[in-house]
Amino acid sequence: MRLGVFALLLSLAGSALAQETPGVEDDARARVNYMLNCQGCHGPDGAGTADGAVPTMKNFLGNFLAVAEGREFLIRVPGSANAALTDAALAEVLNWMLPQISPEQIPDDFNPYTTAEVAKWRKQPLDDVIGEREKLIGRMEM
Ligand code: HEC
Repeated sequence: MRLGVFALLLSLAGSALAQETPGVEDDARARVNYMLNCQGCHGPDGAGTADGAVPTMKNFLGNFLAVAEGREFLIRVPGSANAALTDAALAEVLNWMLPQISPEQIPDDFNPYTTAEVAKWRKQPLDDVIGEREKLIGRMEM
């Protein structure tokens, strides 16, 4: 009987693990960090603002991962680079938000953001964010 309960708990734990997002150590922490640091501008689902001042990431963000220099763009934009988050926490938020808001666009060969990668790229801010964004969108096959 005891063993049965234990086996059940184990299988529950196993299925919870299986659903973990790659590169996200703590789902709840990532969610809260997004809420506190990003949601104010980007909205709860990444929709941005209706006037386009904050572009929509919903069902779009993952497209950047498929073009040259797009991967680092997501770290270098001011909202990411200047966030009051450690490199590890920013990597985790990016890894969490991509499948939350743009699951269909993430390339199959995507590897989660790493702390070292975030540390490197956030120190290289973009001179012309809007211009860079347009250049990358021009590289996307739509
Ligand atoms: C003060 C408002 C603001 C906050 C806060 C903010 N962003 Fe942004 N974000 C923007 C704007 C505006 C853009 C469009 C590019 C630009 O002009 O910076 C953007 C673009 C982005 C992009 C690129 C997507 C695209 O389509 O251009 C990513 C990724 C991103 N932000 C992530 C984040 C993350 C992660 C956080 C929280 C850690 C965050 N942002 C916080 C305003 C914000």
